Amino acid sequence: MPTKLRLGMIGAGEIAYKSTGKAIRNSDRTEMVVAMDVVEEVARSFAAEYDTEWTTSLDEVLERDDVDAVVISTPHNLHAPQTIQAAEAGKHVMVEKPIACTLEQADAMIDACSKASVVLMVRLVTRYTPAARRAKELIEAGAIGDVIALTFTAAGDKADSYWTGGFTGRVQTTWRKSKEESGGGILIMNLVHDIDRLRYITGLEATRVYAEYDTFCTDVEVEDFISVTLRYDNGAVGNILGSSCARGGRGPGNRIYGTHGQIIFEGRARLQVYTTREVPGLESGEWTDLKLESMDSGVLAMDRFAAAVLDGEPADIPGEEGRKTLEVIVAAYESCESGRPVVLSN
Ligand SMILES: NC(=O)c1ccc[n+]([C@@H]2O[C@H](COP(=O)([O-])OP(=O)(O)OC[C@H]3O[C@@H](n4cnc5c(N)ncnc54)[C@H](O)[C@@H]3O)[C@@H](O)[C@H]2O)c1
Repeated sequence: MPTKLRLGMIGAGEIAYKSTGKAIRNSDRTEMVVAMDVVEEVARSFAAEYDTEWTTSLDEVLERDDVDAVVISTPHNLHAPQTIQAAEAGKHVMVEKPIACTLEQADAMIDACSKASVVLMVRLVTRYTPAARRAKELIEAGAIGDVIALTFTAAGDKADSYWTGGFTGRVQTTWRKSKEESGGGILIMNLVHDIDRLRYITGLEATRVYAEYDTFCTDVEVEDFISVTLRYDNGAVGNILGSSCARGGRGPGNRIYGTHGQIIFEGRARLQVYTTREVPGLESGEWTDLKLESMDSGVLAMDRFAAAVLDGEPADIPGEEGRKTLEVIVAAYESCESGRPVVLSN
């Protein structure tokens, strides 16, 4: 096995170009061998930026002996078939979030990778942010006591052009508008990160989910506003309010309430923490502003993927974890359609 993980990039669109390609280049443990996209110009421009080969054929990538693994960065409904095809060709897979659109697709991906003995890791990178890691440590150390409530909002204000060209217009496409191709709107597209991050930080799993959604301002099949109420397995309660048409925006807000304090997230590397306890590094009975050292969570994700494949370490965010996060999303959408709470078995 070579010392660097040799990667094929599948889907060279917005996030691949803007972020994932850089993470692969900046990780000491990964190198890009070839980029593939069905749109030739997209594949070509990616290859020019990242100084790699390009192709429009997935088969060609999977036939190469010098490709150990693929990073799949395509529309959500393609995550399952492409992961399964890659696994069957013996390639390890890092797949973009969400793992898939449905639990059946996620199960088939996990099964295919397990049968082929290849690593499946989901690129839920906000787990790697300094804020998430520090909040996890604080909660595990009992800094805010038992978690009793979790609230998060995403007040996104997406322009009409987002739905056909993302934030940069790099690729003209309609998959984000389509329920079948995307699986849904703001909840599966963006709040997937928040749901996953709070699962990771607190270790809590949702047991009951009730949700309402609608499409108020956007000419798309998916929701542009959703409100979700949750109960967690330790008895904690929670809610999520997400929108892609909150005019004026003002971004995300996540907050964890405990019996002895609170944690408020202020971006990727800053927390506000209140505790009534004596905790090293925090003021008891005061709010402490924790400014954390910034780091590139995309690079860390690549390092960890390489460690799983090359060193045989357990994958940090395996398919099963991506599936558990998806389960909350699927339950919320089911509840929106049925008008009833959905109970999760865990
Ligand atoms: N982890 C993050 O923070 C983050 C951020 C943004 C997007 N994403 C995820 O990344 C993925 C891609 O999103 P995007 O915003 O880059 O979308 P995009 O539309 O800009 O890029 C998708 C690319 O896939 C290509 N494609 C379509 N069909 C293909 C096929 N059969 N084979 C190969 N390529 C194909 C398209 O031509 C396009 O270039 C999605 O899963 C999205 O949710 C993740």
